[in-house]
Amino acid sequence: MNLLVLGGGGREHAIIRKLKENPKVNNIFALPGNGGISYDARCENISAMDLDQVIDFALKNRIDFAVVGPDDPLAKGAADRLREAGIPAFGPSAAAAAIESSKVFAKELMKKYNIPTADYRVFDSAAAAISYAEALGRFPVVVKADGLALGKGVIIAESPEEAVHAIHGIMTERIFGDSGNRVVIEEYLTGPEVSVLAFTDSVTLIPMVSSMDHKRALDGDRGPNTGGMGTIAPNPFYTDEIAARCMKEIFMPTISAMNQEGRPFSGCLYFGLMLTETGPKVIEYNCRFGDPEAQVVLPLLETDLLTVMEAVTQKRLSDISVSFRKGSACCVIAASGGYPGKYETGFPIKGLSDGQLPGVSVFHAGTKRTEDGPVTAGGRVLGVTGTGDTLKEAAAQAYAAMENICFSGMHYRKDIGEKALQAT
Ligand code: AMP
Ligand code: GLY
Repeated sequence: MNLLVLGGGGREHAIIRKLKENPKVNNIFALPGNGGISYDARCENISAMDLDQVIDFALKNRIDFAVVGPDDPLAKGAADRLREAGIPAFGPSAAAAAIESSKVFAKELMKKYNIPTADYRVFDSAAAAISYAEALGRFPVVVKADGLALGKGVIIAESPEEAVHAIHGIMTERIFGDSGNRVVIEEYLTGPEVSVLAFTDSVTLIPMVSSMDHKRALDGDRGPNTGGMGTIAPNPFYTDEIAARCMKEIFMPTISAMNQEGRPFSGCLYFGLMLTETGPKVIEYNCRFGDPEAQVVLPLLETDLLTVMEAVTQKRLSDISVSFRKGSACCVIAASGGYPGKYETGFPIKGLSDGQLPGVSVFHAGTKRTEDGPVTAGGRVLGVTGTGDTLKEAAAQAYAAMENICFSGMHYRKDIGEKALQAT
């Protein structure tokens, strides 16, 4: 079989490594892929957003099955276009991807179908949002741009001044462009956060092993928000009891809500949850695998990934069982100096081959292949995943592998998994 994967981050590298395990797979193509992916798949310099070129490439290369990794091509209709061209594609339609690409859509869906989430208000004018924020008695409050904003569209405002500043940034200065046409102002929730990725064909939903992201740049959950500096799986806060409750109160109601709205969701649905004192609530939905959640969840997947993805696209997920190995995984992200702010690229990455310890995978995110070896090419450069029977073992493996790797300016958090270890 010839497979096509759209995207070029650590998530796509983890997906490709897993797809490669299937003996039916002859070729994997990645658009555009990255330096590390180019050792596992054939990369072509075509943007996943250039859908005309993507379809042309897929037809020319006789693609049998496609996987769309990132949110923006999904929101643009990449999966629809592939299916229209006769190519089975894993990923939701643009209509279903609205669950991530519009926070207003997601909030209204949850309200209409009684899915637990933070209380909120939507505003389409800065003046109205500002007078609402100024009159609020309780802080912090959460200000969110409606549309996609590279994971940066959420601001926790500690005071009316900070809320006004955030609203101005989003709606007046338009720092996220059209994503800031509307804002959501919502109640600040507290409690442990859990990410649950689930396979769904719009009828059956199978949750994957739970995980925990570490979004802040610095140890101890300090510093600015990032795309994710590390993950662990499973998440110890997510007990069997909470899982059963989420299935009943959140996961299945979401699937049925999307069906009732005429936007059946098929692919990987990501539930960003907060376990509050009054029960689990949805913080956000994503219409795809999380990054770097995929880098801990997929290494623990025992069932063949292509088999599961085919069952999803053929709407027969209920026919198969999906299992995860017992044990844990821990992914630590190596980032460029300065990330999530400004950073330089083009630095040689040393020690990658020595990084290969048993149970360790090095997934590339922002890297480029050159004649002299891989160099840095993005903010998040590598995701080093360790696996083991326990989280402690998995984290020790990831950090041991990280010790061998270096590039100029490299920084990584030293405490990925510590919060989870303290909870156990
Ligand atoms: P998002 O970009 O939607 O993933 O949000 C980024 C982070 O902001 C989440 O992982 C939470 O830590 C935080 N966050 C979002 N919404 C809320 C909320 N209503 N209450 C507290 N924290 C929130
Ligand atoms: N790690 C969070 C996300 O993928 O959106």
